[in-house]
Amino acid sequence: MDPAVFEEALRYLPGGVSYGVRYVDPIPIYVERAEGVYVYDLSGRRFVDFWLGHGALLMGHGYRPVIEAAMDQLAKGAHFGYPHIWEVRWAKQVCSMVPSVKMVRPTNSGTEANMYAVRTARGYTGRKLVGKIEGGWHGGYDGLQIGVTYPIDKPSSLGIPPETTANTLLLPYNDLDGVEKRIKGKELAAIVVEPVLGAGGFIPADIEYLKGLREICDREGILLIFDEVITGFRLAPGGAQQRFGVLPDITVLGKVIGGGPFPAGAFGGREDVMEVLDQRKRTNFYERVFHGGTYSGNPLTMRAGYVLLKELEKGEVYEKLEKLGERARRGLREALEPLGAYITGVGSLVCIHFTKEEPRDIHTANRTKDHKLTIEFSKHLYRKGILFVPPYNPHLFISAAHSQEDIDNLVEAAESFASLSKSRL
Ligand SMILES: Cc1ncc(COP(=O)(O)O)c(C=O)c1O
Repeated sequence: MDPAVFEEALRYLPGGVSYGVRYVDPIPIYVERAEGVYVYDLSGRRFVDFWLGHGALLMGHGYRPVIEAAMDQLAKGAHFGYPHIWEVRWAKQVCSMVPSVKMVRPTNSGTEANMYAVRTARGYTGRKLVGKIEGGWHGGYDGLQIGVTYPIDKPSSLGIPPETTANTLLLPYNDLDGVEKRIKGKELAAIVVEPVLGAGGFIPADIEYLKGLREICDREGILLIFDEVITGFRLAPGGAQQRFGVLPDITVLGKVIGGGPFPAGAFGGREDVMEVLDQRKRTNFYERVFHGGTYSGNPLTMRAGYVLLKELEKGEVYEKLEKLGERARRGLREALEPLGAYITGVGSLVCIHFTKEEPRDIHTANRTKDHKLTIEFSKHLYRKGILFVPPYNPHLFISAAHSQEDIDNLVEAAESFASLSKSRL
């Protein structure tokens, strides 16, 4: 705790933070340095980190091969504004790992990547409407910032006029009939879906649902977009699409794709779709889809991303991630069952829901949610030296740097929370 720093922060940063989700009431935890699975606050207190840079740091903090490559690149130039060899290597690597991606463009964030993916789909199909899943989170892009938070009949942000989202159609999650009903008689350019709801609580899509969306898109001439900003390179070397065996037309990527510590995003897909961005084939601005950015494809991010993806391609870390994730889900389930909690997730993604019904979508994850208990749980874990944000949504990322002991300590902390809560009843 550092009240003086936060007091100063409150004067210059709205809400005292650089991103609302990082706030912990009453005072956020200020991290001074990080290494492996640990983060250290200003007083030197050590926490085991289950947030890992919003899930970007799949190998943990300070993964040496990425840091060493980045330091070398810093010396040679972190930003050219010209084409360079690392963007070519990075793009080839992404295309060789993600099954449906044949061509790819880099961005600086997942938000941007989603924005460009939607624009690409509209440019390719010549259609306006875009289907977006209730409870799906695709970053701060206006066009997809509706139906993100519960209740979904309220705006998910101020400052987004209804006209801006007039061409966004909300679709239900894990409910194919519901999707059929809502798209009936409408011409959609794309359907955007996270194969595992991320901020929505690590709720995996049923494989039948994803297959059904694929069929609907093929039948209706709609492009299927998977937002794999979280699942990409995490659930498998080729992401959720490889793991679930359903291929989208466009894939949105982020986080891990830039090596972990660097701002990154990407969107890619079939050649005939990505061709709408080709300035050689489409010489006039009015006949192609614009994408760009001062820092897009900067050599620092591209090289860091390339080095990490080359390592992940070997596939060695996934068995460990899988085992740790399973162990965490099993242990947390046993520990928190007496309190009526549900544990969701897949692979290295784990989320704790204090709800009365099994979370299958944004509605079931929220309408019976015990917010007070959720926050008490998170704060109990913080006291035990286990860190993540936000406290109202304990969705934990496991990294290859975590050990079985870290997972067992997490489960133990949950057990002690359960006994404390039961004794208070
Ligand atoms: C599924 C998903 N899409 C998009 C984004 C936005 O990415 P960024 O924060 O890099 O803009 C996020 C961020 O966490 C995300 O989880």
